[in-house]
Amino acid sequence: MNLDFKNSHTTYSTHGFHTYPAKMIPQVAKALLDEYGKGIESLYDPYCGSGTSLVEAKLHNINAIGSDLNPLARLIAKVKTTPIELQTLDLHLQDFYNYLFNYRFGFRTNENSIIVPTFKNIDFWFSRTVKKDLSIISCFVDNIENVDIKEFFQVALSQTIRECSWTRKNEFKLYKMSANRIRIFKPDTFSTFEKILGKNRNGLKSLMKEADNDVNISINSFNSSNYISRRIIPDESIDMVLTSPPYGDSSTTVAYGQFSALANQWLGFMERGRGLDNELMGGKKAGRIQNFNSLLLNDQIREIERADRSRALDVVSFYRDYYSSIRNVSTKVRPGGYACYVVSNRTVRGVQLGTGEITKDFFEAHGFGHVETLSRNISNKRMPKKNSASGVKGKKTPLMNKELIVVMQKQGR
Ligand SMILES: C[S@@+](CC[C@H](N)C(=O)[O-])C[C@H]1O[C@@H](n2cnc3c(N)ncnc32)[C@H](O)[C@@H]1O
Repeated sequence: MNLDFKNSHTTYSTHGFHTYPAKMIPQVAKALLDEYGKGIESLYDPYCGSGTSLVEAKLHNINAIGSDLNPLARLIAKVKTTPIELQTLDLHLQDFYNYLFNYRFGFRTNENSIIVPTFKNIDFWFSRTVKKDLSIISCFVDNIENVDIKEFFQVALSQTIRECSWTRKNEFKLYKMSANRIRIFKPDTFSTFEKILGKNRNGLKSLMKEADNDVNISINSFNSSNYISRRIIPDESIDMVLTSPPYGDSSTTVAYGQFSALANQWLGFMERGRGLDNELMGGKKAGRIQNFNSLLLNDQIREIERADRSRALDVVSFYRDYYSSIRNVSTKVRPGGYACYVVSNRTVRGVQLGTGEITKDFFEAHGFGHVETLSRNISNKRMPKKNSASGVKGKKTPLMNKELIVVMQKQGR
């Protein structure tokens, strides 16, 4: 099976609603569902992010549950999988265009009713004009009563916040544009928002046409490393787990918290958006080196420790949480059910961590057998290709340019 999907269209249906770091590409989720998901009734994604696997589950008529600690990710995943009657949406879009017309062309000058958010450093990230225009949009969105429609607008607002802020768009972390770039950066906030609304409406229309509205998708906030609610997911109830976990701790790989901080703060989901990164896998630093159910991982940690104990502890912190998550996820899969993990082997201090092999070891310790590990070249996924893994200032090493898809099956019965 060739899983590279070079030049494939990755934003069909609702997949293109919002950018998100290290998204799974829908073609991979689709290929795995076609191969291992025939006739299944339930799917779980413990790191659902912006919901790629959940959208594909919906398109395959499979009930699905997702969980993620990032409120923005949960919002995006929910909106991408929630059917909305187009007629109802269109009435709200029309209301919005009328509302905006009055502001744009000066018929409405009473701006006292507009509440401008006041989170820390807001003026560092937005020009006065953008801040005012975003607040005008927010004021309309906040007053929408229908929750599904309000959230549909919030996703478009979040993407507009990102596109019109002074963040560098080619980075996952929060970096401000250079002064030169800022001087020529004059985004039209209203047009950006309208364009995103229109594009997302088309995506929704396509989802509504292709997916069965009775398929149930639920999105939850639990941290799978700590616990997975038995009420929401009874033990041995899941036919297939399909997920792409983080590649490592947020500070040295992908900072989901930083990426989402401005939107999480603007939408009132979090006071300090950046703080989220400490809650994600590997965010709490381990105090000691420990052994795992993986000889490869234990050897690799020792090797890193010889060069840099602190980085070895970072690695321990991440795999400690990853191991707990796999332990908890394992109890949810029915015997004969599959776990498909899309992972990457990142490099720390010159050691390429074998996350593919380690994932297999962790699942084997919980009653799973290895089915296969597939490999794909990463071509159309937004990923940092290089980082300072050597620890030498300025020296960049390849981070990840291949993905591995580890397929495991639960033994028994
Ligand atoms: C690689 S991304 C998933 C991307 C997703 N497949 C998509 O297509 O958008 C990994 C996700 O794991 C989440 N995450 C990290 N640690 C977590 C934890 N302990 N519990 C739940 N989610 C976590 C992050 O917030 C991030 O959204």
